Order: sequence, then structure tokens, then C-alpha cells
Amino acid sequence: MAWKKVCGVGDVEVNSVKLFDVEGVNVLVTNYGSGFRAIPPICPHMEEPLDVSGIVANCVLTCSKHLWAWDLRTEGMLGETEKPLKFYETREEDGALFVNMVEELVYDFDSEDDLDDDFFG
Ligand code: FES
Repeated sequence: MAWKKVCGVGDVEVNSVKLFDVEGVNVLVTNYGSGFRAIPPICPHMEEPLDVSGIVANCVLTCSKHLWAWDLRTEGMLGETEKPLKFYETREEDGALFVNMVEELVYDFDSEDDLDDDFFG
């Protein structure tokens, strides 16, 4: 267990995302109104930085690049989304948000051949 303090619970506005450096690891915190999620900072589709392209509304995180979307309450995929997000375990304590940084969460990205399939297949 490696619980690390990321921020105060008031540091991330409702329906927003904010990027934090947690001892050298970039973690994106989302506040979806009834809770927080902490995720890797890039979209699992094509590595878009979600602090720029991520939109949070109605408990859903949407990457505005190609509209992949995830339900932040259930952590499930929505619509045409093809890859799940990875989530750090979080907890709130004394007005602060902590994440369990056992290891940095990273995505596997498709090879160039697979991307060609997506575009032309
Ligand atoms: S890069 Fe995020 S949906 Fe395509």
C-alpha cells in the first residue's frame, strides 16, 4: 500500500478535471459531483491529454477528441468506447484526497497496423 495525498477535496471543482504530479507520476483527478476518480492523464484511445480534452458532465468523462466516454460512477465504458479507463484507488480523509500509488497505471496502445485498420478497415 502506498497511499499518497494528491490534493484537497476543494482543489478540483465539480464537473472538472485537474492534473497533479504525485511524486513524479502524473495523475488526473476528476470531480464528478458525487465523488472523485483518479486516472492516468491520457486518453486510452490515442494518448490525448485529458486535462485538455476531458469533459466531465452528468458523471460522465468524455474525451472531446473522438468522443470516447466513461461513466465515472460505475467506471464502465459508454457508446462506441473501445477501451476501459484505468483507475487508481482513492479515499478522502480530513478534507484531502489520497490515491493508492502501488504502481503507475499505463495503457497499451495499438500498433500502427491496428491504427490503419481503424482508419481504413
Ligand atoms: S483520443 Fe480520446 S477519444 Fe480519441
